[in-house]
This record gives sequence, structure tokens and C-alpha cells, in this order.
Amino acid sequence: MQNIDDIFKSRVNDYHYNTSYPLTPQHWQKYKTNRQLSFADIKDYSWYIHIPFCKTLCKFCEYTRFKAIDSEAEKHYLKIISNDIANFINQNNTKEAILHGLDIGGGTPSALSHSSLYELMLMANDYADLLTKAGDFCGSIEGSFNTIDEEKIRIIANNAKNIKRMSFGLQSSAHLMKGLNRNNGSVKHMVKVFDWCRRYGIKILNIDLMYGLPNQSKEDITTVMAIVKELMPEHITIYEYRTNMLKGDMPSDVDTRYMQYSQLFNLISDLNYDGHFGGNTFSRISDDGLSSYLHHRMIENGSYKGFGIAAQSKICNGLSYNIGKGGETLKDCMAHDTFEADSQTYILPPQEMLAKYLAISGYYGKFRLSKMNDIIGHNSMKAFKSEFEYLLNNKMIAIDHDWISITKEGFKYYGAILSLFYPHEVTPTT
Ligand SMILES: C[S@@+](CC[C@H](N)C(=O)[O-])C[C@H]1O[C@@H](n2cnc3c(N)ncnc32)[C@H](O)[C@@H]1O
Ligand code: SF4
Repeated sequence: MQNIDDIFKSRVNDYHYNTSYPLTPQHWQKYKTNRQLSFADIKDYSWYIHIPFCKTLCKFCEYTRFKAIDSEAEKHYLKIISNDIANFINQNNTKEAILHGLDIGGGTPSALSHSSLYELMLMANDYADLLTKAGDFCGSIEGSFNTIDEEKIRIIANNAKNIKRMSFGLQSSAHLMKGLNRNNGSVKHMVKVFDWCRRYGIKILNIDLMYGLPNQSKEDITTVMAIVKELMPEHITIYEYRTNMLKGDMPSDVDTRYMQYSQLFNLISDLNYDGHFGGNTFSRISDDGLSSYLHHRMIENGSYKGFGIAAQSKICNGLSYNIGKGGETLKDCMAHDTFEADSQTYILPPQEMLAKYLAISGYYGKFRLSKMNDIIGHNSMKAFKSEFEYLLNNKMIAIDHDWISITKEGFKYYGAILSLFYPHEVTPTT
């Protein structure tokens, strides 16, 4: 049996250890079940609606997404989602449930036609209104600069009062994006989009940035941060490029990614955003930079129900993925009258649930002892005594009351750190 130091060192340069879990789709095969995940006894959760359509398909993207379709087909897609939400409400005692968040993501929800976006906003809002919402509820929707216009912003703001946050991907410089099949348009257009959002009442705006992209340079990061400075979104989210679901290796090494993260962190801090080193979210409005769906999912280890193709759902002892996750075509998925047909459900032991929680929290660069204890049903400091000792002695983590944070030194190897708490037999090749 290898000791912890050997295991850790063998993983520090392995890019498969990131915020994705499980490390291979096969790993959970033994936990697969024909039963659906049941939310009947769950009283706190959030919802996610997946709109998989995009105007163009960026080369770097590993989400389930398809080239935009015609408005009639979009409406058919929305109809299936509407039926799935209605069934969820009928099958579960939603009158007693608290809805903590609602994120509409993709893909690109703003790539929908005006009439489809209008239908989606009414549907999402009306269904969310059937539930009691948590005090910090803040619905959020994703968009892209090359699909949004003033009318779409008006449709969102006027018809979905539960949506108060909008997130736009910028990623990196226009020059780099061009080679990756993405065009965000002019800075002038972006400024106009932000003005419209604020004028119509979408108060919290987020910009997504990426690092670790193929051929990304220091200048690409400086250039994109100059645009961020003009826009001054309320939230900034930075994503490390992941290739787990894409063909091909990681284009950068661990030192380059660490340097790029540090560059972004410093430039974002210079603009007076709050955030901690190792975290992916930043805010200038005294919150954690997350939508309430993401807050409930990442920080509270909450349950969530996903609607739409490939959407993920989670409860305390299992996860499921709707049809589409297995690589089915859009036509295959749309041939059903529910996206829960042929879904993949896994009932998982506590150690797998813990691994999933840690991978999800990896985005935030911090996780909580109390959540770890809840998941495994006993004291995690005892259960992982040697792992904690190793990480604390090597100053990879720091513990402050309930919070375990990955230190500045440790962040370079965050994937290897998280992996020490994964079940031992798990590797990217098993
Ligand atoms: C679900 S995507 C949708 C956002 C929207 N369609 C857009 O592109 O602006 C959310 C974010 O994930 C990030 N992302 C996309 N592909 C990624 C990858 N391969 N690795 C890590 N992050 C990725 C991007 O920053 C993107 O803005
Ligand atoms: S990054 Fe956004 S726009 Fe690009 S393919 Fe992915 S979901 Fe679509």
C-alpha cells in the first residue's frame, strides 16, 4: 500500500484531478440503479434548468450543448421541461418545501428566440412561485454577449421577477477567443448590454473568465481584465479550463495555471473585489459572488433538482443525470416526452458523496468540517486523521473553526489535495 506522500506526489501534475467527479463515468457503474432519485422527503432544495442551445460552439466547452435550433423546436424542448417540472411538483410535497435557488444555464439561454425566452421566463417564474422561497433566494440566468439584445433583457426583467442575476461569459481576449470559435462582440456592445440590464432591473451581473486555455498568454489576461474594469460586474467567476470530457490533453502545466490564476486574482483584487486566494468567485457587493442556487449547492451541500437535457440532480445519498449525459443526440433526447427517460441514477455510499461534495466545493477553495461529518456520519478529523495530518504539516490546508481552506501554497495542487479524501481505488484510469 502506497503512503500518502507517494499518492499525493503522483497526482500533483495529473490534470484529471480537478473539480470534476467521478473521475471516469465507469467508476459509478456499480452504483447504478433503475430507481428514480426521490425528492419526496426532501424539504430544502434548489432547481436548475438546462437550455443546451448556443449560436456557435466554442472549442473549449465541455458542457452539453448543441447548435441553436428553430423556434418551434425550442418550444418543443420547453414543453418537455414544463411537463417534467409539473410532474416533479405533483409527485413531491412541494407545499412544505423551501426553494433555495433557481439557475437557468446552458448552453446559452439567451440564444433562445424572443418568443421562446418569453415562454421560458413565464414558466420558470410561475413554477418557482408555487414554492416558498428562501430569504436569500436569488435566481440567475446565463447569457452570452453575441446572443443578447435589449428586447431579451426586457423579457427577462419584466417576466421573471425571481431572476435578479445574469451571468455573461467573456473568458479571455478577443484575439484568443477568435481561434476558439467564439466572438463576444465589441466592448461598446458589452457596455450597452450592462446598461440595459441595470436599467431594466437586473441588479447583479456576473462575468465568467477562464485560465489555462490553449495558447493563453499573460497579455490575454491583462487585455480581458481591462474590459472587466470597464464593465465592473457585481460578481466575477474564474474557471480553470477542464478537459475531462473533451478529447485531448491539458494544454498547460500546473505552474502556468497557478501563475495565470495568481495574475487574475491580483488584478481582480486591485479592482477592490472581495474573494480569497484559491476561490473562483469574487464580489464587490459584500456577498460570496454566487447565485443562491450555487451557494446552496457548494457551500451548504444542498440537494438540487435539474431539468432539461443532461441536467444533474443530487440528494443526500445519490445523484442522477437526465438523458443527454450519455452522449445521446438532441434528436434522441427530444424523441421522448420527458428528459428523465433513460436517465442515469446512482445511489452512492457516503465516501462517494463526500468525494462529490469536495469536488463541488473545490470551486470555492474551501469546504466545511460539519458537512464532511454529516456526510460520513462520524468525525471526519478522526476518519481522515493521517490525511489531515499530512496536509496540515505540509501547510496545504488551514483549519479555522468549521472551515477547511486550501492555502496559497496548497492551491497549486488543489486537485491532489481533494483526491486524498476520495475512495482509495479511484484513479482516472479505473
Ligand atoms: C455553462 S457555461 C455557459 C455560459 C455561456 N454560454 C457563455 O459561454 O457565456 C458557463 C461557463 O463555464 C466555463 N467553461 C466552459 N467550458 C469550460 C471548460 N472546458 N472548462 C472550464 N470551464 C469552462 C465558461 O467560463 C462559461 O462561461
Ligand atoms: S462556452 Fe457557452 S457559448 Fe460556448 S459552447 Fe459552451 S455553453 Fe455554448
